Amino acid sequence: MNAAVDFSLDAWSQPRLQAVEAALSTWVTADTVPALGWGAPSGLVDTMRYAVLDGGKRLRPLLALAAYEAVNPEPGAQQPSAAALRAACAVELIHAYSLVHDDMPCMDNDVLRRGKPTVHVQFGEAAALLAGDALQALAFELLTPDDGSVPLAVQGRLCAVLARAAGSTGMAGGQAIDLASVGQSLDEQSLRHMHQLKTGALLKASVMLGAACGQASETAQRALADYGRALGLAFQVMDDVLDVTADSATLGKTAGKDADHDKPTYVSLMGLERSRRYAQELLEEAHTALAASGLANTAALAALADRVLHRNH
Ligand code: IPE
Ligand code: IPE
Ligand code: MG
Ligand code: MG
Ligand code: MG
Repeated sequence: MNAAVDFSLDAWSQPRLQAVEAALSTWVTADTVPALGWGAPSGLVDTMRYAVLDGGKRLRPLLALAAYEAVNPEPGAQQPSAAALRAACAVELIHAYSLVHDDMPCMDNDVLRRGKPTVHVQFGEAAALLAGDALQALAFELLTPDDGSVPLAVQGRLCAVLARAAGSTGMAGGQAIDLASVGQSLDEQSLRHMHQLKTGALLKASVMLGAACGQASETAQRALADYGRALGLAFQVMDDVLDVTADSATLGKTAGKDADHDKPTYVSLMGLERSRRYAQELLEEAHTALAASGLANTAALAALADRVLHRNH
């Protein structure tokens, strides 16, 4: 029997998405912190909640949970471990912060995100800047609970992986290259580097964070890293494609803005047809990596990779 044939990504995702939504709503809060005697200002928390809740495909949390389950298969367990749920939410907080800042007038100057006005449009630029800052810090707070639920060694590993993926050699670095590249035509190697940093790094990290919450052999870790790298790049290639082919209502963000802003993209470099073909090749690389992982429970990871390619938003 081929397990992948019987696998329903929607059925697998549903309880996990519920767990992620509930956890994000609990953790992004103005509640008093007992150790401090005060909570965060409610205006700042309103802005953070607007940025994080009610929207988004939650691909990064799902990847983290799927990777965790792949290295720690507990048949039938629909509720993730404490560490895996924290890792899943932490990477989504970093992603949400990156979107808030990406949309600001000093970067892509976008007014629509996840089907709603962007955070700076709704709350002002200073609030958007601060909400992004606070979401980034909260991500690391989530990874370092002091209730004994996540072993210290795991906490350290999770923080290291997420910090590197978010920082100057990951997402923030890629965003810097993106801004410096407006109006330029990058060669394929430079474009790949930019995409791997600005988007690929956090997607690959999602996979590695999940794996770090379980017991992955070196072979499995290497294979998951290869899978995450291929999937991460495929994701941004398809983001470039969808910017051209989809409409704003479907995307929940303004379509056509890459060309308007004169950004170098896979579509501007190689056209739609070749970009799609390249994304398909990357998808095949991701599947090949899973096959080499030695892991039995990779149906969710495989289905998520397929979804990255065959999505309409
Ligand atoms: C959009 O990411 C930004 C990029 C990294 C290209 P997603 O397409 O995952 O956005 P949400 O989370 O679903 O809104
Ligand atoms: C953004 O890439 C990547 C991030 C780090 C947020 P884009 O600028 O292409 O993302 P969208 O198209 O606005 O979602
Ligand atoms: Mg951008
Ligand atoms: Mg943008
Ligand atoms: Mg884009």
